[in-house]
Amino acid sequence: MNPILKSKNLSRLLAFSDTLPTPHIIIDPEMVKNEFKALCSKFKSTKVFYAVKANPNPEVVRLVAKLGSNFDVASRYELDMLIGLGIEPERMFYGNTIKKAADIAYFYSKGVKTFATDCHEDLMKIAHQAPGSRVYFRLLLDGPENTADWPLSRKFGCRAEVIQTLICEAQEAGLDPFGISFHVGSQQRDIEQWDLALRAVSEICKESPVPIRLINMGGGLPAHYLQDAKPMATYAVHINNYIEKYFPDPETRPEFAMEPGRSLVADSGVLVSEIITIATKSVEGEVRWVFLDAGKFNGLIETLDESVKYVIKTEHEIKNAIVSDEPRSEVILAGPTCDSMDIMYQDYKYTMPDDLESGTRLYFLSTGAYTSSYASVCFNGFPPIKTYVLPQNFEARRIQK
Ligand SMILES: Cc1ncc(COP(=O)(O)O)c(C=O)c1O
Repeated sequence: MNPILKSKNLSRLLAFSDTLPTPHIIIDPEMVKNEFKALCSKFKSTKVFYAVKANPNPEVVRLVAKLGSNFDVASRYELDMLIGLGIEPERMFYGNTIKKAADIAYFYSKGVKTFATDCHEDLMKIAHQAPGSRVYFRLLLDGPENTADWPLSRKFGCRAEVIQTLICEAQEAGLDPFGISFHVGSQQRDIEQWDLALRAVSEICKESPVPIRLINMGGGLPAHYLQDAKPMATYAVHINNYIEKYFPDPETRPEFAMEPGRSLVADSGVLVSEIITIATKSVEGEVRWVFLDAGKFNGLIETLDESVKYVIKTEHEIKNAIVSDEPRSEVILAGPTCDSMDIMYQDYKYTMPDDLESGTRLYFLSTGAYTSSYASVCFNGFPPIKTYVLPQNFEARRIQK
């Protein structure tokens, strides 16, 4: 069962959502809190750097900051937001390998002293703009593409032999080459990918001319989509075993970090959308097209290539905690813009009750990550989808009204 359906806040969440115009995303902050605590307890010796890009909502960021998280920051705009929230620069990595010289200088001027890198040119930019900083090198992995719903290799990282050269260059340029990072791909379903990655990293450590003091395992832990994934606890058991296998000596073991995004926030979010129109395109009564007020450009971009398939509930189903036993048939789900790319699911056929009506709401579960932060600014004039965090005192406020 999707975790939010078990949340004790579900009925308050739905009642709060009823007061808001669609489309919107609502976050159950307690679920974020519980997930963060569970993660820390399962990965006891791994430092957590929340990947802000997954959900940069200030309330979410403030919440994880209060719980003690550090931060993986992708741009000066995220940095400004974090600084604005009073988060110390020592708690941040500039984790994007693609950076302008001016942006590196900006991070440095704000006190961020740890940078990801994966090529000579970027390394030299860091050496000039952020002298003496710590750098970690992102490893390009083989293989994790096929088993991640949202792969992140190819574009990032470099081969082990390039890393060895970069380590020497960093030293010569007065930087501190202190770590190695990798990312096995987001929503990685194959836990063995961490085995392969950590083995490759341990080889780099053995060859390195300087001791490697940090291993940053990136993200990749899963959320609960239609094709469910193993629980985080199972991932933790395996990954902790791999760490012990490849770095058996606790005395010399480097420090470990991780940068969870999706797994921390996705399950806490529900994207609520209204059906605008239901249409059939010929008299043969073929499959229904269900047009929604949320689509690829305002929250559902990870439906590109139908990569992420969310659990979708009708209003009736979610409010009555049932799977409707009404007759159902296949639908195509599409968004509101005048762009024919704005179709979420066409190959994979969701089924919906035959009596589905325009004006009712659909609930996309586990949509707390990579939804609002990916939405277009104003494509076709539609504003970016808004995120609301369930206020703690919501019930009380309603009674007062
Ligand atoms: C450098 C880096 N770290 C961490 C993450 C978060 O990954 P995930 O959402 O799979 O946890 C990303 C995602 O794009 C990333 O680019």
